[in-house]
Amino acid sequence: MIPTTREECVALDEADPLAAFREEFVLPEGVIYLDGNSLGALPRSTPGRVADMIEREWGRDLIRSWNDAGWWDKPRTLGAKVAPLVGAGPDEVVVGDGASANLFKTLVAALRMSDRSVVLGEEGNFPTDLYVTEGAAALAGATQRRVDPDGPGLAGALAAGDVAVLLLSHVDYRSGILRDMPGITRLAHEHGALVIWDLCHSVGAVPVDLSGSGADFAVGCTYKYLNAGPGAPAFLYAARRHHSVADQPLSGWHGHARPFDFSTGYEPAQGVSRFLSGSQPLVADAALEASLDVWAEADLDLVRAKSLAMTDLFLDRAARVGISSITPSEHERRGSQVALVQPEEGAGYPIVQALIERGVIGDFRAPDVMRFGFTPLYLRYVDVWDAATALVEVVETGEWRQERFSRRAQVT
Ligand SMILES: Cc1ncc(COP(=O)(O)O)c(C=O)c1O
Repeated sequence: MIPTTREECVALDEADPLAAFREEFVLPEGVIYLDGNSLGALPRSTPGRVADMIEREWGRDLIRSWNDAGWWDKPRTLGAKVAPLVGAGPDEVVVGDGASANLFKTLVAALRMSDRSVVLGEEGNFPTDLYVTEGAAALAGATQRRVDPDGPGLAGALAAGDVAVLLLSHVDYRSGILRDMPGITRLAHEHGALVIWDLCHSVGAVPVDLSGSGADFAVGCTYKYLNAGPGAPAFLYAARRHHSVADQPLSGWHGHARPFDFSTGYEPAQGVSRFLSGSQPLVADAALEASLDVWAEADLDLVRAKSLAMTDLFLDRAARVGISSITPSEHERRGSQVALVQPEEGAGYPIVQALIERGVIGDFRAPDVMRFGFTPLYLRYVDVWDAATALVEVVETGEWRQERFSRRAQVT
């Protein structure tokens, strides 16, 4: 049942099995943070963990920390901590570089594994996926084709029989549409294509089962729902069955079979480590480790149930004042965000700005989408209620029409 009063929301918070997690995050007074899908909130343990890394591991122990503090193995040990969040084996994930770089590595590796030369992507994917595909395809002598993965065209595009790689976002960054990972992966495999999933908007937001879905490769960022901090390193998944053949293009020494032989020819490491390139940002890794330790305590089924209940509530309140949503109403097709569109042209950006001035932080994605992310570890039902109430007031009173709300900042 979707709550219809603030009191019902208070009662839901009192009964919430995830309620204690809120204490693990730093949340500024007077702010309702609905942008954890862009930059997650700061875990309380992160500053101490980062300070310890800097002062003790780096400052006191210096170079010895490559061995003693496990620096050399961080991409693997952190990968093993990401693995349960994405349904992967601990030896199938490495942490390192950024999502864009990892897309490039997996795309070229997948193209080299196929005798075909088409990358099938999605028309509306996050631009970096499209741009990196352009670059990777040009390098590998392949071409890019695009389809709407939520329309009827996907099956036909795969049936053409020339697709080497299908690259899709599991959850769409604008609409929040969640795709059927097992079904689409199966279809692609039936037509001889490999599949790369972009998990940037699904890791920590929805259940992900890469192994159960038979996915070939995946990448994801950690600064959104995983709360690892701005520009935190990304992760890369490669199914175990591909480890011995995958040949990625950024063949650096961290991906070498025996890096400390310092031999002059490249020989890839045996496991997923072959996807590594060079030295990693270990200070940022410390922040990621702190946030992954919070996630290790979270029951992902409870996270999903609360996410759906919160997005149901926000959608319900918005619909009452005629704001339309491009986020699916069906649970099985919804990520952990709500994307709203106000019919009046140009209203989206200033509405979001007016909300931010009230302390309700969402964001805006061109051309007209107001995006609100729901993070069950640190949001309460009353926050959702209050945010929706603020949205209704901003729209109904026309508060957003004040000129200052239309001035565009660089980051929207
Ligand atoms: C779907 C998707 N892929 C990739 C990225 C970002 O890539 P990077 O971390 O390399 O900036 C984003 C960022 O919002 C995203 O939404």
